[in-house]
Amino acid sequence: MRTTVGIIGAGPAGLLLARLLHNAGIDSVVLESRDRAYVERRQRAGILEQGTVDVLRGAGAGERMDRKGLCHDGIELRFDRRRHRVDFPALTGGRSVMVYAQTEVCKDLIALQLEEGGPLLFETEALAVEGADTDRPRVRFRREGAEDVLECDYVVGCDGFWGVARSAVPDGRTFERTYPFSWLGILADVAPSHDELVYARHDRGFALLSMRSPSVSRLYLQVPADTDADSWSDEEIWDELERRFETDDDWSLRRGPITQKSVTPMRSCVHEPMRHGRLFLAGDAAHIVPPTGAKGLNLAVGDVVTFARALAHRTATGSDDLLDAYSATCLRRVWQAERFSYDMTTLLHTAPDATPFEDRLQLARLDRITSSRAAETDLAEAYTGFPIG
Ligand code: FAD
Ligand code: DHB
Repeated sequence: MRTTVGIIGAGPAGLLLARLLHNAGIDSVVLESRDRAYVERRQRAGILEQGTVDVLRGAGAGERMDRKGLCHDGIELRFDRRRHRVDFPALTGGRSVMVYAQTEVCKDLIALQLEEGGPLLFETEALAVEGADTDRPRVRFRREGAEDVLECDYVVGCDGFWGVARSAVPDGRTFERTYPFSWLGILADVAPSHDELVYARHDRGFALLSMRSPSVSRLYLQVPADTDADSWSDEEIWDELERRFETDDDWSLRRGPITQKSVTPMRSCVHEPMRHGRLFLAGDAAHIVPPTGAKGLNLAVGDVVTFARALAHRTATGSDDLLDAYSATCLRRVWQAERFSYDMTTLLHTAPDATPFEDRLQLARLDRITSSRAAETDLAEAYTGFPIG
């Protein structure tokens, strides 16, 4: 099999890249190890930055998002039993975010790709990328028990943190940090208890109230790093959420049947450079952020937009300039998102080894954000998104 761009992975990065290339008249083949139902059901991100929303619309993938997505103009910070709303449009000159689940973004892009785009092969596992430093890189893959080769002009590794593409970038450097806690996430069939997201800092740990629709809530609790999701009963989860969201006013948490429970570890990780020869890394294959700032999917979108633009530029002008700048262009934005995600994580979580001095500093940082327009604007600008490219 032969194509211009071999894409490994059909998460948001790989699927959007295939769509952007299709729109630019460049052919591609997507290889995805899992089946379609698995990719469409994997519960993960929920917040799309303004820039991501604009890219999906521009790619012709925004129709259902605009009907079903919930536009949010702010978030609430909760600490010391107090509530503070951060007003995004007022602080950023009109920007906001969209609550629209990653599962739905993937469903929309898969449907478009199967209808209009090039091959999207599920249950097809990439085994290795070969010849990245030649003009003809190849992806060796296994499909229906047989091995085969996809010959390409370029390969883009969109295969997430556990994929194979990164191992074909030699002499790279990885910068990482793990955190001594995880998130226990639940989906519940109950209307969200607040109309915007609530990020809560509590002495017992962080909690986040989010949503998937007007009738489905998504909530997270900070738990110790090695927690087994099944060790928490539904009642224990609701009781703990209630404690951490407690306020001095009459706000209350609505409970409902929990339909899904899972634990997500927290890590920060950046692999540099994001390119070797004709192999490019995009999304979680190149970098991971802790989920507190809601940046992972949005970073993946920035990477593939940057790659698609660079390749279209090469096709139109013959110049490799933008492809050569790919890694540096992406990394600048990646490190801003790493910084913000780290700041949000350390601002709101209780580290098991935190000293009373560090606890007080956390409260002082929250006090600063909620009393200084400059500090609050910094948060609002980062949350609604850094520019792409
Ligand atoms: P992935 O989604 O991991 O996709 C990689 C794909 O490659 C997968 O489909 C995988 O099956 C496939 N693959 C792997 N290996 C191979 C192989 N060898 N051959 C073929 N295919 C392969 N981000 C946000 O922006 N906002 C949020 O609100 C947010 N919340 C989050 C909450 C949680 C609980 C978690 C876990 C993550 C959250 N994220 C959030 C992060 C976001 O989900 C990821 O950053 C995003 O999925 C990255 O997309 P990707 O396409 O790069 O990688
Ligand atoms: C969601 C996840 C996040 O990491 C976040 O910061 C906000 C919302 C979510 O899954 O809805």
